[in-house]
Amino acid sequence: MATSKREEATVMSELFADRAAIGTESRLAQLFGGQLGPDGIKFSAGNPNPDLFPTAQMQNAFNTAIDTAGNHLFEYQEVAGPVHLRQQLANRVHQTAGINATADNVLVTQGGQQAIDLVAKLLLDTGDEVAVETPTYVGALASFDQYGPTYLDVPMEDDGMDVDALTSLLKTHPNIKLVYTVPDFHNPTGVTMSVAKRKRLVELAEEYHFYILEDTPYRDLRYHGHSLPAIKSFDRHGRVIFISSFSKILMPGLRTGWVVADEMVINKLRQLKETSDLESPAIMLHAVSAFLDNNDLNQHVANMLTTYRNRLDAMLNALTEFMPDTVKFTRPDGGFFVWLTLPENVDTQALLQDVVMPQAHISYVPGQVFFAHQNVHNGLRLNFSGVDEQQITAGIQRLATALTENTVKVQ
Ligand SMILES: Cc1ncc(COP(=O)(O)O)c(C=O)c1O
Repeated sequence: MATSKREEATVMSELFADRAAIGTESRLAQLFGGQLGPDGIKFSAGNPNPDLFPTAQMQNAFNTAIDTAGNHLFEYQEVAGPVHLRQQLANRVHQTAGINATADNVLVTQGGQQAIDLVAKLLLDTGDEVAVETPTYVGALASFDQYGPTYLDVPMEDDGMDVDALTSLLKTHPNIKLVYTVPDFHNPTGVTMSVAKRKRLVELAEEYHFYILEDTPYRDLRYHGHSLPAIKSFDRHGRVIFISSFSKILMPGLRTGWVVADEMVINKLRQLKETSDLESPAIMLHAVSAFLDNNDLNQHVANMLTTYRNRLDAMLNALTEFMPDTVKFTRPDGGFFVWLTLPENVDTQALLQDVVMPQAHISYVPGQVFFAHQNVHNGLRLNFSGVDEQQITAGIQRLATALTENTVKVQ
């Protein structure tokens, strides 16, 4: 009997492990919506602005890396990354996040995403309890999903995760192993955790014996106010695993991120990375290192801040002017995202597909994917870093009209 390609694929996928059925695809696939017309405005992306990439300087850095190391650059090298780069990163986290670290506390990874995955691999057996912010970064959930944890939800407040709610949760679930947080300009809400909460989180980790995964790729992208010390800077007993990345402050295509943690944790993560990819491409890491030697990264970041600040301000102004009172929104001081909360009876996924994309030609990310249990339907994420101010104002006005008409309809 002839079988179609589709039937064949279904039969063969029965052989796949559970993690292939649940993980990355089901959550991340929902992030990238359909096509918009020529007047379309995309608030659904999560990317830095490519016009701000230092491409010529990076090209020089690649040449320098090859000129300096020659053939040796293309041999197998160190799993953890070049020691010079690890030292540069240790210096950087000291300067920008108040963390005391040496090169031995640093593991260079293929983006923050690999770092998250390695930490999940290190800590999570099936059924292990992980506390996550609701909402939280979908890529972390996609990674965690593969290890079959039990998720416990911690609500977000205007100054970061609700630490009182976490404390109550720890009393009833003392076996929580890991608390995952994005403390600076959180993805998807844009919220930043207060210093008091950062300190309390570390105290709780000591009292209840868990690890904190501090994931902070946006921390240098602050457009208003002053930088806060990292949670890791309050860590005295190796409870905090800190992750960051060059994706948002340099270029995501470099696929270069890093972990800062106690040596014992770094050594284990290094072994796990080795079983996964042996090592990151040395050419990339030596080029990044040469870039840092020969350019002022802080100056590059400072130059980007003006563009992003103008875009954030344009978005907040437009939201204030055009959104109906029934729509609440966050007021971030940095990062890439603003989070909208609509009336409870609105399903932002259906709204996107039925009204906002076809009629207003606007895209956003419906909020459901950012919840571990995918049980909240009335939130949505807007990106402002990839859209210019004129488009932001026009796009938010169009979105507000669509939301106003629709929320009136469904209420
Ligand atoms: C909170 C958060 N963590 C980690 C990542 C992973 O980024 P990358 O792997 O490019 O460093 C992202 C990317 O959007 C993110 O938003």
